[in-house]
Amino acid sequence: MNAPQNPKANPKTFHVKSFGCQMNVYDGERMAELMAAQGMTAAAEGEAADLVVLNTCHIREKATEKVYSDIGRLRKGAREEGRAEPMIAIAGCVAQAEGEEIVRRAKVDVVVGPQAYHNLPELVAKAAEGISALDTDMPALSKFGTLPKRRKVGPTAFLTVQEGCDKFCTYCVVPYTRGAEISRPFAELVDEAKALVDAGAREITLLGQNVNAWDDEAGTGLHGLIHALDRIEGLHRIRYTTSHPNDMREGLIRAHAEVEKLMPFLHLPVQAGSDRILKAMNRSHTRDSYLKILDRVRAARPDIALSGDFIVGFPGESDAEFEETLSLVDAVGYAQCFSFKYSPRPGTPAAEMRDVFVPAEVMDERLQRLQAALNRDQLAFNQATIGKTCAVLIERQGKLPGQMLGKSPWLQSVYLGTEAKIGDMVEVEITGGFGNSLTGTQVVRAA
Ligand code: SAH
Ligand code: SF4
Ligand code: F3S
Repeated sequence: MNAPQNPKANPKTFHVKSFGCQMNVYDGERMAELMAAQGMTAAAEGEAADLVVLNTCHIREKATEKVYSDIGRLRKGAREEGRAEPMIAIAGCVAQAEGEEIVRRAKVDVVVGPQAYHNLPELVAKAAEGISALDTDMPALSKFGTLPKRRKVGPTAFLTVQEGCDKFCTYCVVPYTRGAEISRPFAELVDEAKALVDAGAREITLLGQNVNAWDDEAGTGLHGLIHALDRIEGLHRIRYTTSHPNDMREGLIRAHAEVEKLMPFLHLPVQAGSDRILKAMNRSHTRDSYLKILDRVRAARPDIALSGDFIVGFPGESDAEFEETLSLVDAVGYAQCFSFKYSPRPGTPAAEMRDVFVPAEVMDERLQRLQAALNRDQLAFNQATIGKTCAVLIERQGKLPGQMLGKSPWLQSVYLGTEAKIGDMVEVEITGGFGNSLTGTQVVRAA
């Protein structure tokens, strides 16, 4: 056996672990590409890496605590196996919000914010010389131009088009961790989309904290970008997430009627059903203006699957106000949703409203009732797909032999027996609809 080396002095293998939203997944992939471009290799699944990048999320308290427990677990694992500790780099939104505290509390080697990760190789090199390295700058020049070209991706790929948020919902940390809204340039995005298709992508999901706020000086708007991607040969599907109700422009709604590659799915978070709570959240839309947008989207694309995010127990939320969230859910009939208990975040205005915090047991009960309603609707939506024939993009192998897993146009997971390979589009008749997935049988092989 080789003498144990200090991986921190010369890290050769890396592992990037991403938490939180899809944008973090995208950032994690780009950091992995950066490290690979430096000649490092990705550690095999389950194998200890010399450098571990924890790409963190700060959105709720639990997400933040996870960082500290993960750091502890990494060190304990190394000790128990008699290995030297790996180099630990903290990236993502906790790095941005609590950078110095992490260095103090957990003595990690590198801290790098979401707008500075193009500097990761340099920071790792510094740390290898024993210099603790922190970079949470939000430079005026975008990091994207300095990242390596995309080379190999799966059939579905993410493309960050817009970052940051100027909305300042009173519960949310994103405007502080990701900075002001910026849109990446049109030409750069079309080039990256083409590179993704060349690298194997069949579906591209455009990402942004407020993706539908994407724009350029020419006023192209997200719909204009979607029309441009529609022309890329070999790209079969386009999706986008997450949208804000206030940025839902007419052109984007129309694109759902005009662009066949644009999938019939819209994630449009509403958060709550009561106008008083929406105002206290600084959401700048009302229950009614939100429902009117959905009517227009449904008029453009009648089969659209709707999705949203909800927060229960925002400070001061009464029983009657919570009932308004339930009645909104009944009115919409969502295909799938995310729902959370309110979590006070340091530095946000709502965290100051302590005198009206909703008790934990009330929040638990509200979340249970909301999730029961959302699960009921999700099952109903899935069952309504039975008997339809639709295209399925094969994403990976299922658990059973000969079984593959793909996605329907409405973003449902579909299990089917098929000879098709990952990345193929197949025509499938849906035969079963369950809480979280569908089953189907292949009818004809699409081109
Ligand atoms: N930009 C998106 C997503 C933001 S974060 C949007 O505006 O919808 C994803 C979701 O996390 C939010 O939609 C919200 O439902 C939830 N969330 C954000 N801050 C939260 C907090 N402090 N407590 C509980 N849930 C929160
Ligand atoms: Fe957070 Fe609101 Fe911005 Fe979404 S729109 S990221 S919830 S501040
Ligand atoms: Fe979390 Fe940051 Fe995304 S806080 S949800 S990783 S923008």
